[in-house]
Amino acid sequence: MSELLERHRRVIPNWVGLYYDEPLELTSGSGSRVIDSSGRSYLDFFCGILTNMLGYDVPEVRQAVQQQLDSGIVHTSTLYLIRHQVELAEKLARLSGIENAKVFFTNSGTEANETALMLATVARKSNQVLALRNSYHGRSFGAVAITGNGAWKPSQLAPFNVHYLHGTDRQLPQFAGMDDAQYSAACVQDLRHVLTTATAGDVACLIAEPIQGVGGFTMPPDGLLGEYAAVLRERGALIISDEVQTAWGRTGEHFWGIGAHGVVPDIITFAKGLGNGLAIGGVIARGDLMDGLPGNGISTFGGNPLSTAAANATLDYVLSHDLQRNAAELGTMIISGLGEATAPLPAVGEVRGRGLMFALDLVDPGTGAPSPRLATLALEQTRARGLLIGKGGLYGHTLRMAPPMNLSEADAKEGLGILADALRAVNEAAAR
Ligand SMILES: Cc1ncc(COP(=O)(O)O)c(C=O)c1O
Repeated sequence: MSELLERHRRVIPNWVGLYYDEPLELTSGSGSRVIDSSGRSYLDFFCGILTNMLGYDVPEVRQAVQQQLDSGIVHTSTLYLIRHQVELAEKLARLSGIENAKVFFTNSGTEANETALMLATVARKSNQVLALRNSYHGRSFGAVAITGNGAWKPSQLAPFNVHYLHGTDRQLPQFAGMDDAQYSAACVQDLRHVLTTATAGDVACLIAEPIQGVGGFTMPPDGLLGEYAAVLRERGALIISDEVQTAWGRTGEHFWGIGAHGVVPDIITFAKGLGNGLAIGGVIARGDLMDGLPGNGISTFGGNPLSTAAANATLDYVLSHDLQRNAAELGTMIISGLGEATAPLPAVGEVRGRGLMFALDLVDPGTGAPSPRLATLALEQTRARGLLIGKGGLYGHTLRMAPPMNLSEADAKEGLGILADALRAVNEAAAR
């Protein structure tokens, strides 16, 4: 065991997982590549969990951060006007499509979701929340309470009364053989049944990830969240889109993941990629909802001058380079390439994704059952070939990939080649 790993194990909680038999320390990076402490270079297709969304050492972001550092001010608190924060909020409000939108900045996705849930439950005077099975929304009491994945629920204590909806579980036997329309109809019927049987009629909100991140990039059929919204809005319930992983055009087709569902939510939460690595999250909500909180509120670090400088530079880069289009083009190429390369491999199950957010399941070649063992092996095999990827899925059997949104075509092809090669090796090992 390396000396750093030994020290890590002594002082860092055992529930903070590390990838790989021999965990990596990344010590430098540039473009889509990182270098580890032994000097080895890797192409990075996971980017600190979708967070370094422009990759590493981006001059525009570095300059913005440097300029702020040079001013001598890293922090002022929200007791004072923060120019970068106001500018960023203006851009996000405009991009959200939400009427009279206001923005509150936090330091993480968890805090963003906490805030959104506070807005919805206060506005509706109800603690009844609907969420999706297989969801992940963060690590606080409130966020854990609405997370639909037992492996990520360290506590059953909950400030909410939560009911879980279907939407990303069509592999279950009761949905076998259904096409998108039939599955969506079954889901909506189930929602109506839940509302009639399990709730007191004044549901506060539905919160959903348009593509489930930790869940393994599982997603509802296009339009389903819009159908849910139509039923719920008849009853006054609010719609929260957790865009922590799906925002900024990463899914290629739409700027926000929920765009695939034909509905503008009442509240959007975001985090991860916006600061290209600097800590920033937040909530965009209708002004009346945002202003409707009766008490005072503050986030000491939320929307600080440094993180909002980085976020403005990152967002401007994404928009001015039309990275949504890059995500659509390269994502389509990689996803179809992966589909072709893995079709003959019985150890690879479903390949899925949107834009530069794609995944595949590892399965037992004999039974088709989810295989976390093969997913772990695939992680090692890709690392050995110089590619960093992620893992996820309800059973830990999914490989998740989310390269930088400014990925080049050459890097996309290289990554695809490594993935295909590593998966062939995993398939062979599975057959042995
Ligand atoms: C969809 C989603 N929501 C919320 C969170 C929580 O964000 P954070 O880890 O920044 O608190 C995550 C983190 O992975 C996420 O993927």
